[in-house]
Amino acid sequence: MESRKLARNLKAGMIGAGSSATNIAATIATIENLSLVAIADKNIDAAKKIAAGHDSKIVSDDYKDVCDDESVDFVIISVPHGLHHEITMYALKHGKHVLVEKPIATKIEDAEEMIDTARKKNLKLGVHFQCRFFDAVQEAKKLIDGGKLGKILQANVSVMWYRDDDYYQKSGWRGTWVLEGGGSLINQAIHPVDEMVHLVGSVKTLFGLWDHAIHDIEVDDLTAAAFQFENGAFGTLQTSTATKAAFPAKLTIFGSEGAIQIDGNILTIHDADGKEKVIDYAAKHGGQVGSAKDPSKFSLLAHGRMMMDFCNAIIEDREPVVNGEAALESLKVVRAVYESNGEKIITL
Ligand SMILES: NC(=O)c1ccc[n+]([C@@H]2O[C@H](COP(=O)([O-])OP(=O)(O)OC[C@H]3O[C@@H](n4cnc5c(N)ncnc54)[C@H](O)[C@@H]3O)[C@@H](O)[C@H]2O)c1
Repeated sequence: MESRKLARNLKAGMIGAGSSATNIAATIATIENLSLVAIADKNIDAAKKIAAGHDSKIVSDDYKDVCDDESVDFVIISVPHGLHHEITMYALKHGKHVLVEKPIATKIEDAEEMIDTARKKNLKLGVHFQCRFFDAVQEAKKLIDGGKLGKILQANVSVMWYRDDDYYQKSGWRGTWVLEGGGSLINQAIHPVDEMVHLVGSVKTLFGLWDHAIHDIEVDDLTAAAFQFENGAFGTLQTSTATKAAFPAKLTIFGSEGAIQIDGNILTIHDADGKEKVIDYAAKHGGQVGSAKDPSKFSLLAHGRMMMDFCNAIIEDREPVVNGEAALESLKVVRAVYESNGEKIITL
C-alpha cells in the first residue's frame, strides 16, 4: 500500500455515519497521524457503531456538537445532498475546514455561498470526488494535456445502472428533490461527469431530458443530454438507475489523433493507428470504483489518496485538488439537464 503518514497530527470530525461514512472512516484508520475524534448522526446508533472502532470522544445525534468542538481540525460531511449546504455553512462559520461528499450541494447558489465563505475565512473546502485520484484518470489527464489525443472533439458519459425499488423506498432521502436533488444523474453519474469536466473543460451550452421512467420517485431514473464545451468540443451523456441489464460506467473522449475510455480505474487507449491498449489499474489496486448493481462495492484506494491530499492541503496551506470551484463544474452540468427538461437550451 502507498505510504500514508501526515507530517503532523490532524483530528477529524464526521457528520453522517451511513454507508459512505463507513468507507471514509475505514480510510482514516489507514492514515498515520490522522484520528477520528468526533462523530454525529441523527441516528445515534449509526454514530456509535463507527465511533466504536475509532475511540472517538464525541458521539452525538447533533452535528453542531462536532463543529463546536475545539479539538476538531476539519469536518467530513456525509449526509443527504440537500443537507450539504446547511451543515457546511455551520462548520465553516465555526472555523472548521470542510471535506463534503459529492455533489457539493443541490443548488448552484448554495455551492457558491459555500465557496465564497471558505475563501473569506481562509478555510479549505474539499469535495469528495475521489475518482480524480484513480490512476486511469490521472494518466488520461497526462495524455490529453500532452496532446496525445490531438484536438479534443467529443466526449460521452454513460452510466446505465440499476437500483431496485428498495434502494429508493427504504432510504427516506433518495428519490426526492429536496434531499437528493435529483436521481441517477446527480448521484450515480456525477463521478464520470466530474472526470469529464476535469479532462475536457467547462460545458458552455446544453440541451437535456430527464424522466422517472420505472421507479415511483420524484427525480430522474433516466436522463440524456447533448452539449458543447467552452473549447468547442461536443458532448453527450446518458444515465439511468432503471436498466436491469447494466453495463459498467464509461467516460469516452475522442480526439483527432486518438481516443480514451475510462471505466472506473480501467483505462483503454486507442492510438491514431487504431491500436488498443487496456491498462487495468483496478485489478492492480483491489477493485473498481463503484458498481452497476451494488452500491456497497467500492475500492478505497482513491479514498486514501483523496484524504491524504485534503489533509496535506490543510498542513501545507494550499488548495485541495478537488476544491469547491472544481466541484461546481459538475453540479452546473447536472442542474442544466434538469432545468432544460426537454424544453430549452441552457447556457451554463
Ligand atoms: N464518494 C462516493 O463515492 C460516495 C459513495 C456513496 C455515497 N456518497 C455520498 O455520501 C453522502 C451520504 O450517502 P450515503 O450513501 O452514505 O447515505 P446513507 O443514507 O447511508 O447515510 C446518510 C446518513 O446521514 C444521516 N443523517 C441524515 N440527516 C442528518 C443530520 N441532519 N445530521 C446528522 N446525520 C444525518 C443519516 O442518519 C444516515 O446515517 C451523499 O452525499 C452521497 O452522495 C458518496
